[in-house]
Amino acid sequence: GLPSFVKVVEVGPRDGLQNEQKIVPTEVKVEFINKLADAGLKTIEATSFVSPKWVPQMADHNEVMRKITRKPGIVFSALTPNLRGFQSALAAGAQEVAIFGAASETFSKKNINCSIQESVERFQEVTKAAKEAKIPVRGYVSCVLGCPYEGNVKPEKVAEVAKMLLDIGCYEISLGDTIGVGTPGAMKNLIAVVSKVVPLDKIAVHCHDTYGQALSNILAALQMGVHIFDSSSAGLGGCPYAKGASGNVSTEDLVYMMNGLAIKTGVDIHKLIEAGHYISTHLGRKSGSKVAQATKSS
Ligand code: HMG
Ligand code: MG
Repeated sequence: GLPSFVKVVEVGPRDGLQNEQKIVPTEVKVEFINKLADAGLKTIEATSFVSPKWVPQMADHNEVMRKITRKPGIVFSALTPNLRGFQSALAAGAQEVAIFGAASETFSKKNINCSIQESVERFQEVTKAAKEAKIPVRGYVSCVLGCPYEGNVKPEKVAEVAKMLLDIGCYEISLGDTIGVGTPGAMKNLIAVVSKVVPLDKIAVHCHDTYGQALSNILAALQMGVHIFDSSSAGLGGCPYAKGASGNVSTEDLVYMMNGLAIKTGVDIHKLIEAGHYISTHLGRKSGSKVAQATKSS
């Protein structure tokens, strides 16, 4: 049967904002994150400690991480591609970090400027340092259901990379459908293959909604036994190194679906919708969440 609780990993402040051309002021990011925390989200990916030349929108990572209102029981995490990023994240108060690899060589090169093998060697420096500092490390695998440069990606390749990240010390592996091309059958097959090498309770699913398949894919993964889902408030998002990639599945729509299934998330959907409206208003556009659109007053 379905689980009674799912873990929602909010990636809006990071994945959601990283591709925005206009720099969002630090105070707006901090207020957005505080609102998400108030809505009951327990894991919030706040920023990324990457090169500001590569991703200018995340250049204020230190200030964002330092200015968030800390609350007990809420984990604020950050992406860290290398040891330098990890050290900065730790100094700024990140309680969890994430390394991010890919199941496609070309995407790895375009996104983090190295091969998959080189990335794992680099990531191992992060996991070693994190272990000493007692900081949990999450591992992302991008392009799990297709690559913007290479097209099809074999589930076996995803499983191989996921296993490497698990072996170097990641406690959770997030499978990213970076360009949102997956469909439920492909998702089920992927989970079946990956769960042979990564225990099901350590697998997260990270869906972008580019082709409108995200919620269907999430339901498919849920039926396969996955209970950790990444999403983005207001459906913000996209990866700068994946052309055409649109937003993540919106957290509002994810929580609405879970509520309907009587699966707990710990999230107050009304406060969540408010947080989504706050950032959408700042960005000057309509929320990407169908639930937010449907419930907007006036
Ligand atoms: P590089 O050019 O190979 O590395 O980049 P480098 O060591 O030669 O450094 C280049 C410059 O960056 C140097 O500065 C470094 O000091 C600086 P310069 O000397 O030119 O002035 N630098 C840093 N600055 C701040 N923090 C750091 C850091 N490291 C180096 N940690 C690197 C390699 C990984 C740094 C670069 O490729 C990079 O920053 N990439 C980030 C790409 C990114 O953030 N992509 C989006 C996130 S992934 C994603 O969205 C997918 C996901 O959502 C899942 C899914 O949807 O599939 C997770
Ligand atoms: Mg993503």
